[in-house]
Amino acid sequence: MRGLTTPLQPKHSYPAAQNNPKKSESCNLYSHPVQFNGKNNDPLSRKVKPISCFASENPNRPILKETKPPLVVVGSANADIYVEIDRLPKEGETISAKTGQTLAGGKGANQAVCGGKLAYPTYFVGQVGEDAHGKLITDALLSGGVYLDHLTTVSNAPTGHAVVMLQSDGQNSIIIVGGANMSCWPEKLSDEDLEVVRSAGIVLLQREIPDFVNIQVAKAARTADVPVILDAGGMDSPIPLELLRCVDIFSPNETELARITKMPTGSFEQISKAVEKCYELGVNQVLLKLGANGSALFTKGEEPLRQPIIKAAKVIDTTGAGDTFTAAFAVGLVEGKSKEECLRFAAAAATLCVQVKGAIPSMPEKRAVFNLLQSA
Ligand SMILES: Nc1ncnc2c1ncn2[C@@H]1O[C@H](COP(=O)(O)OP(=O)(O)O)[C@@H](O)[C@H]1O
Ligand SMILES: [Mg+2]
Repeated sequence: MRGLTTPLQPKHSYPAAQNNPKKSESCNLYSHPVQFNGKNNDPLSRKVKPISCFASENPNRPILKETKPPLVVVGSANADIYVEIDRLPKEGETISAKTGQTLAGGKGANQAVCGGKLAYPTYFVGQVGEDAHGKLITDALLSGGVYLDHLTTVSNAPTGHAVVMLQSDGQNSIIIVGGANMSCWPEKLSDEDLEVVRSAGIVLLQREIPDFVNIQVAKAARTADVPVILDAGGMDSPIPLELLRCVDIFSPNETELARITKMPTGSFEQISKAVEKCYELGVNQVLLKLGANGSALFTKGEEPLRQPIIKAAKVIDTTGAGDTFTAAFAVGLVEGKSKEECLRFAAAAATLCVQVKGAIPSMPEKRAVFNLLQSA
């Protein structure tokens, strides 16, 4: 498998990121996203710092002075607005919530923070609006140690957000505003954004931004021989084959695998058959997240590797466990760990995650993962 059979060893030094989010020119909220012409290419109005690139045997791979090829996460950033209510309001009715809280989230931001907290140089490529939610997310990414040079602020869309109504009977109702995650992307990504993708040690994608953005990123990564992991979480529309063909590792949970393949995934045997269908769609490796049943890495032509969970003292909240698992696996891979070690590292990070409430607040520091692995 390209780029994944040999450890990804850092060869060059990478310049310190300036960590300045960029600002985009306005976009039309009501057009189809593909027609948006969001980013401003006027260098004076952009705060982005040009990034030099990696030297590599691959002529398409840019030249860099750097110690570690970064993890680059391209995806969504969201404000999750939680309200705790006894019941949903009736039409025309106003009710009071028992309490409310707004937390930074979105699969892209979650995975980027996980990379940062695991002390691996991590860039986030994404979009927020010019609003308080954008600031909330920016602060969360910064405190996770994520480089924000490729985070763009768009002026004509709100930051993506979700209203999560937690009812006392345990039912949840959610309303999502795609906002800057789904609109205002330029038809063609900027050279700077594609350059950081090409300079990456590994690229992580999910399905909470438009497919055409993911396709451009995955294709750019492939031309530079950079491995791509696609987390299946997000939109449940069919995944374009054009995207899957540029993905090195496809990572669904059991429900997503069932939905994508239209096959049952209740037993390991059924899962193995569904994975065969993924191979037919063009991916050669499938990293499956199986909740309390652990995880498994399937590679075409090889026996699957299985990883049971590392038992949690107490399961408090599994939100973000999947994002933690995928991001930690990616960090393991880019650090040159074997596939078995990556699975174990990811299981350790994820079991620490389920023991703390929230997604981003529950993502573990590298030291905590190491300590757990040593004691487990
Ligand atoms: N109850 C649990 N105890 C320990 N680890 C868990 C538990 N639930 C999930 N995990 C870990 O988190 C990983 C991802 O969780 P999972 O539920 O499969 O992902 P998703 O959130 O995408 O559905 C699992 O593969 C496992 O390693
Ligand atoms: Mg699950």
